[in-house]
Amino acid sequence: MTTAGAEKVAPAVAVAVAFAPGLGGPHFAALPPLALYVHIPWCLRKCPYCDFNSHEARGGIDNLPEAAYVDALLADLEVALPGIWGRRVSSVFMGGGTPSLFSAGGIDRLLAGIRARVPLAPDAEVTLEVNPGTFERDKFEGFRNAGVNRLSLGVQSFNPAHLTALGRVHDADEARRAADAALALFDNVNLDLMYALPGQNVEDARADLRTALAFNPQHLSFYHLTIEPNTLFHRYPPVLPNDDMSADIEAAVEDALADADYVHYETSAHSRVGYECRHNLNYWRFGDYLGIGAGAHSKLSLPDRVIRQVRWKQPAQYIDQIASGAPLMEETAVVRDAIGFEFMLNALRLNAGVPTTLFAERTGYPLALVQRELGEAVQRGLLERDPTTLRATALGRRFLNDLQAIFLRDAPAVKSPATVPVATPITFRRDP
Ligand SMILES: C[S@@+](CC[C@H](N)C(=O)[O-])C[C@H]1O[C@@H](n2cnc3c(N)ncnc32)[C@H](O)[C@@H]1O
Ligand code: SF4
Repeated sequence: MTTAGAEKVAPAVAVAVAFAPGLGGPHFAALPPLALYVHIPWCLRKCPYCDFNSHEARGGIDNLPEAAYVDALLADLEVALPGIWGRRVSSVFMGGGTPSLFSAGGIDRLLAGIRARVPLAPDAEVTLEVNPGTFERDKFEGFRNAGVNRLSLGVQSFNPAHLTALGRVHDADEARRAADAALALFDNVNLDLMYALPGQNVEDARADLRTALAFNPQHLSFYHLTIEPNTLFHRYPPVLPNDDMSADIEAAVEDALADADYVHYETSAHSRVGYECRHNLNYWRFGDYLGIGAGAHSKLSLPDRVIRQVRWKQPAQYIDQIASGAPLMEETAVVRDAIGFEFMLNALRLNAGVPTTLFAERTGYPLALVQRELGEAVQRGLLERDPTTLRATALGRRFLNDLQAIFLRDAPAVKSPATVPVATPITFRRDP
């Protein structure tokens, strides 16, 4: 294996940073915690609402290049090692796509290869995303034996009509069987549901929630269905509940979850106490993450800058690029004028907020960098007036986009001259 890719990219970024306007360097007393994201980009079928980097397994799942892809992931990790040297990995998240398309043997080889290359914390949270359409009990057992200790199951709804409208490959019974098996085999399970679905009313959403709660999962993610560009739903928009109905559904879901003793700790995430998704908390607290796999995103703090990376998106191209030791499609340094927004975009999603001291710890700049914006947010009633905590008010949570936008300055990330432009999403919808 080779480290040529890392050697090739780092000098290019150094050049970009040297000429970056307004980029006084950050200073880190200590580097943030580090998480590892692994992207597995295939699905049985592409859902009409989905804008994740997921590709239909056209030749069927028996013809997926599983072995070649696991090899590529491990080679990718090896190339990335110099950038995270000696740092402990606190969580691993295998997301997609549909990672549960891979065999338990493939996931076992992947996790063993990760453990051999990076120091994994002994209590690391290791999550695998699962689609009920790929459910087999033996496979779930195999995932557990491989070291997966948290499953995240993409249920979306238990209502047959809504599952059909969403183009899901599984029916409600398969979703129930998969949830049953997941909870029998794992003691940390997330169920992903979406709301504001085509034709959904408040009672439908309550019924979905009752079914989900009957499984007593440790974690529930409720995502507002969004119509994303480049999806079939964008081209052929379904009839969705109007804003008032969506707000009623959201309020009903939140009340029922609070009554059932789930902590609403992040915009879309609810959990039993102590079962917050640690991997996602690290994103929201502006921790570091290395993302390996096709189209994966990374955010890494170096002693003098914060960088973002994007891997090649198409699976075949990714595998080829890895073979030539160059997995990165783009690497950018985050400029000083952008980092306050990036921090707030994540941290303000947490309902309990974050300590004010975290800003300097994670951005490398004093909080004074965003003093004017903080003042405006407090004055508009969107941010609590609390010197110890950065936390949205109830109004701020309701108008979170407006609150986050206050911190947005006209400052594009500095691009490495050797790379091509690409949109770099810096929000995380997945429950991981
Ligand atoms: C990568 S998928 C999860 C695993 C698996 N691929 C599946 O769908 O079963 C992550 C989650 O994002 C949510 N999601 C995807 N597209 C969405 C959209 N347009 N609006 C809201 N939530 C979305 C779904 O709840 C989905 O389970
Ligand atoms: S929602 Fe999940 S299963 Fe559907 S296309 Fe996206 S990643 Fe694949």
